[in-house]
Amino acid sequence: TLRLLTPQDLASETILVTAGPTREELDPVRYLSNYSSGKMGYAIARAASRRGARVILVSGPTCLAPPAGIDVRRVSSALQMQQAVMECLPVVTVVIKAAAVADYRPEQRDKQKIKKGPADRMQLNLLKNPDILSELGRVKGDRLLIGFAAETENLEEHALRKLKNKNLDMILANDVSHPEAGFEVDTNLVRIFYRNGTAEQCLLMSKAELADVVLDRLLRLRYPSAA
Ligand code: CTP
Ligand code: CA
Repeated sequence: TLRLLTPQDLASETILVTAGPTREELDPVRYLSNYSSGKMGYAIARAASRRGARVILVSGPTCLAPPAGIDVRRVSSALQMQQAVMECLPVVTVVIKAAAVADYRPEQRDKQKIKKGPADRMQLNLLKNPDILSELGRVKGDRLLIGFAAETENLEEHALRKLKNKNLDMILANDVSHPEAGFEVDTNLVRIFYRNGTAEQCLLMSKAELADVVLDRLLRLRYPSAA
């Protein structure tokens, strides 16, 4: 099969990939979420597995078929994603956080469907969700941590701040207002910022191709002297 033709250059890594959005429920029929198809994360998980890594995919709700041969853990909310990630962490050597985690969740989830009231205005109270990647950054050890930043403005400034604050090794920033770098599409256009201060503008490519680029860069960070 394909695997026999592919260099198993990630055979010594256990890679945790998060993908997709999270859903923060308001009641049994409603939720808050982000646009995210999960395609980028699934592409990375698939490519890493093909290259010999053990892969754990913690996935929010997506329409995508679970890639074969991968340990997939389905979650819904940010709190569930945090729990799944922390549970896997002891065996993991690389974390790639492609998930679009909701920054806030409703303060309470009603057990019954919330009924429409007489007033023209309705207020939601939200609580901040834990920042999973920042939490990982604080207990990093020898792990490589890779984040994503979907921005609509000041891409470099925002990406660099996240790289530093979350203690990441690299961050892939994309301008989601660009039609070929946004959600749902099969292509991506990213700029990669590295811990050592360098940056790399990637060409427009498919998410499958970008997945292999990310994994190549990860290996270069792991083995700086080689090539
Ligand atoms: N992230 C996370 N947990 C959160 C929010 C974000 O792990 N609660 C991760 C995402 O998976 C992504 C990275 O942090 O890899 C950046 O996410 P982003 O939403 O761009 O950054 P935030 O720090 O949430 O800042 P803001 O939304 O204000 O731009
Ligand atoms: Ca956010």
